[in-house]
Amino acid sequence: MKEKKPKKTNGNFPTNLYEALENRKQNANLRKLPSHFPKYDFSSNDYLGFAKAKNIAEKASEIVTDAQTNINSATSSRLIRGNYPLIEEAEQILATFYEAESALIFNSGYLANLGLLSCINTKNTLVFYDELAHASIRDGLQLSLGKAYKFKHNDVSDLAEKIQLQQKRNSEATIYIITEAIFSMDGDGPNLNKLLQLCKENNCYLIIDEAHSNPMYPLKNLLSEYNLNNVFARIVTFGKGFGVHGAAVLGSEQLKSYLVNFSRSFIYTTATSPHSIASILAAHQHFEEDKNQLSFLKENISQFRSVMHQLKLEKHFLESYTQIQSCLISGNDRVSKAAEFLQVKEFDVRAIKSPTVPEGKERLRFCIHSYNNPSEIEAVLKNLALYFSK
Ligand SMILES: Cc1ncc(COP(=O)(O)O)c(C=O)c1O
Repeated sequence: MKEKKPKKTNGNFPTNLYEALENRKQNANLRKLPSHFPKYDFSSNDYLGFAKAKNIAEKASEIVTDAQTNINSATSSRLIRGNYPLIEEAEQILATFYEAESALIFNSGYLANLGLLSCINTKNTLVFYDELAHASIRDGLQLSLGKAYKFKHNDVSDLAEKIQLQQKRNSEATIYIITEAIFSMDGDGPNLNKLLQLCKENNCYLIIDEAHSNPMYPLKNLLSEYNLNNVFARIVTFGKGFGVHGAAVLGSEQLKSYLVNFSRSFIYTTATSPHSIASILAAHQHFEEDKNQLSFLKENISQFRSVMHQLKLEKHFLESYTQIQSCLISGNDRVSKAAEFLQVKEFDVRAIKSPTVPEGKERLRFCIHSYNNPSEIEAVLKNLALYFSK
């Protein structure tokens, strides 16, 4: 049979792709790269202001120079000629910092999740993931051969029921549970102690993505009763709280060796550049030496929450004690208008629309930073109250 050629619009663009874009326009959710940024940052992930810290950049340059390695590139993948002493040293330092047996660096958190989940979820494996898990987790699972089931957000009882049901069907399967220490859209987190207990009772392996908790809420402080070694894998990223770039998977030496052998987003890509590695090291050193930014961040979170209560706005917000505070305004159109209302007043608050979040759960996401000052926090919330009173 002759293959049907797709119709083209505009010369060289297939009709189905054109229609997908048109659909987005009609649903008010067409994405565009922004070029203007309102003055007050309530949207970036640079929670501690490290992205702007000159001393981290200076220290990173010093580290690269001292390492006497290639300066601009790792030149190839780790398994070809891209492994170098600085990257190995960094992995040891990270393993110590995070109290893990080993660390394996990936070029980003997205690639770490993709590479980890796609290779551990093999045949005769079941993965249970929180329904609000990040796209990188879902994409990794989609690339894998095993089965994946979602459980209700932070609901350990729902998870337990789903595990039992699947275990009845296949008692031999290896089971993984994946969750996030702090969820990127809701700012809340699971009860990790309960999850670990469940894992122990059902012989499951736990994976925790720490992208939005690292380094503000160290896992060792969140897990009171259990040893970190009971967690199968942790994903720490450096492009958010640490203000640099890259990620690492933390776990046992056996896990590291497995990933070096089977994780395609680790194997088939140029290794992280020496400069990025030096920035990761410099940012960790800076965090160890100066906890001021962390204190400022925590004060700002408290201030945000107390003004929110003073203005009686809490009924609009999801319950969260972290730097991510989400205000539900359902409908892409409505939430976009609310964001615009704040943006024209120079508050960079973003609308998170469906399909990034489920329909009906569209929201304004406020990301709080160490460098937001008390008057701008008060002003943004007063303007939000004004929006609701209109
Ligand atoms: C939970 C979670 N995991 C992983 C990532 C990806 O990390 P990176 O930005 O380093 O690719 C993100 C980014 O938003 C995230 O929110």
